[in-house]
Amino acid sequence: MDNYLVRNLDWQLDNVTSQYDELPLWSSPFGLLLLDNFPIGEYENYLDIGFGTGFPLIDISQRLGNKCKAYGIDQWKAAFNRAASKIETIKSENITLIEGDASNISLPDNYFDLITSNLGINNFENPLTVLKECKRVIKPTGTFCLTTNLTGTFSEFYQIYRDTIIELQFDKYISKLNNHINHRGTEESTKELLEKSCFTITKTIKSNYTMRFLNGSAFLNHSFTIIGFIESWRNMFDQAEKSIFFDRFEKNLNDYSKQKGELKLTIPMLYIECKKNSSN
Ligand SMILES: C[S@@+](CC[C@H](N)C(=O)[O-])C[C@H]1O[C@@H](n2cnc3c(N)ncnc32)[C@H](O)[C@@H]1O
Repeated sequence: MDNYLVRNLDWQLDNVTSQYDELPLWSSPFGLLLLDNFPIGEYENYLDIGFGTGFPLIDISQRLGNKCKAYGIDQWKAAFNRAASKIETIKSENITLIEGDASNISLPDNYFDLITSNLGINNFENPLTVLKECKRVIKPTGTFCLTTNLTGTFSEFYQIYRDTIIELQFDKYISKLNNHINHRGTEESTKELLEKSCFTITKTIKSNYTMRFLNGSAFLNHSFTIIGFIESWRNMFDQAEKSIFFDRFEKNLNDYSKQKGELKLTIPMLYIECKKNSSN
């Protein structure tokens, strides 16, 4: 028997409440896709790549039971600290956090039965190196599952962005916009990266979700937009032209939102499951 007959997590305590407030909203739709599909088994070792503030590492480690040893690797110090405090709160003894780059994982070859990564791949500086390292540490029988957002994320927003650049005759920024949009992979480019890393794809699921805002001003000022996105948009423009662009862009977004009754943004999601090639 486990210790659940004596273990308490009092929801009135601050640390337990912050544990309850567990998952960034941005990560949740991808997380549900992952949680609905990852293969469950009696595993020895599980690894999550880019666990951020602890998702899905902490949740999956508990779903797999405490006989499975769980490991997570991430290089984001503040998030690492947050994940560590969640683990301390729930008194989990089978999770090891590694602060570092997943291009170089300090664990043996053929070690993991399951590797996951929620929203990691678009954020890795060298995705191919990370995937090759995953291939090294996964067992020949292991499964690697990842989710990612695809090119086409916020397509409505980027169409108006492009139209505004053209309207202002700021054509020199079009190639920067294209590079920015294409830093997110397509289904094909994600599969290609996995195949180049000697994985064989065994399952693919594609779906969409939407984020809704009153208008462009609400979206641009939303705290998550400021944390996660605004810097790359601001950095695209020379100082003198930045405010000219954003003044017109915000107005164009707001006109579009008024006409549609809201600003509804699409996010295409991909879940991929794969196995290590037997020939390598
Ligand atoms: C969008 S966040 C996703 C975080 C978390 N999995 C979630 O679903 O909320 C991407 C994460 O990948 C991490 N990351 C980026 N490059 C990495 C690398 N080379 N090695 C390990 N983690 C990395 C980032 O620090 C960040 O925590």
